[in-house]
Amino acid sequence: MTISATQKIPSYSEIPEHIAVIMDGNGRWAKQKHLPRVFGHKKGLDALENLVRCCFDAQVKYLTVFAFSTENWRRPLEEVNFLMELFLSALQKKVTLLYKNNICLRVIGDRNRFSKSICEHIQKAETLTQNNTAMTLTIAADYGGKWDILQAVNKLLAAGKTEITESDLAANLMLSDIPDPDLYIRTGGEKRISNFMLWQMAYAEFYFTDILWPDFGREEFDNALNSFKKRERRYGRTSEQLPIEQQRP
Ligand code: FPP
Repeated sequence: MTISATQKIPSYSEIPEHIAVIMDGNGRWAKQKHLPRVFGHKKGLDALENLVRCCFDAQVKYLTVFAFSTENWRRPLEEVNFLMELFLSALQKKVTLLYKNNICLRVIGDRNRFSKSICEHIQKAETLTQNNTAMTLTIAADYGGKWDILQAVNKLLAAGKTEITESDLAANLMLSDIPDPDLYIRTGGEKRISNFMLWQMAYAEFYFTDILWPDFGREEFDNALNSFKKRERRYGRTSEQLPIEQQRP
């Protein structure tokens, strides 16, 4: 069977262009070591820094991580406050490193509940790194996939739309200007999407690992990439319809 122009198959490389990650298991990592949960989050930040290096080395263009969900406000106040402090100190301490490595930093989510100081530092970091081109690191903070879809619909309604197409909605989501995730990694043993980028994840390949987030290093990153290389991405088609180089045994 030949493939006509209207049946164009997305081309993709063996390296995912966009990786999305749910960094789960910080609390359990700390508990295993008889430490307070917040120690797990501290270690989690180190693991995130390492992941950015891994992606940079592998020439992954976009990395999006779920740092704080719209539902995470339900956690004990002490833990929420700690996560906010950690976010603020990461913004203060790591932005220069990102800038020097030509990495663009973006933050997606509802900023209304963040402190003035966090909002100012987000703005500063985004402005400083906005023209960087090697890689884009996006932090999803007070983010939810349902929130994202609703904010897009509300923008369209405010613009007077009465009927919404798929491309209208896609164009108004967070990260509408970058490709949807190719690979979605979740650590910590749970096999769920937890209200992460619900729309954008429609054709992502999933990789679940029992490894707890603070222990996620280069070896497991390579395992995820190797698993991705073996996936046949058919986008609804049959294997035989794919170009030969995209077919998998
Ligand atoms: C999930 O583990 C993790 C979080 C809710 C927070 C993720 C935060 C970091 C990795 C810190 C670094 C990020 C930034 C941007 C400051 P969990 O607490 O649900 O673990 P559990 O399932 O074992 O309880």
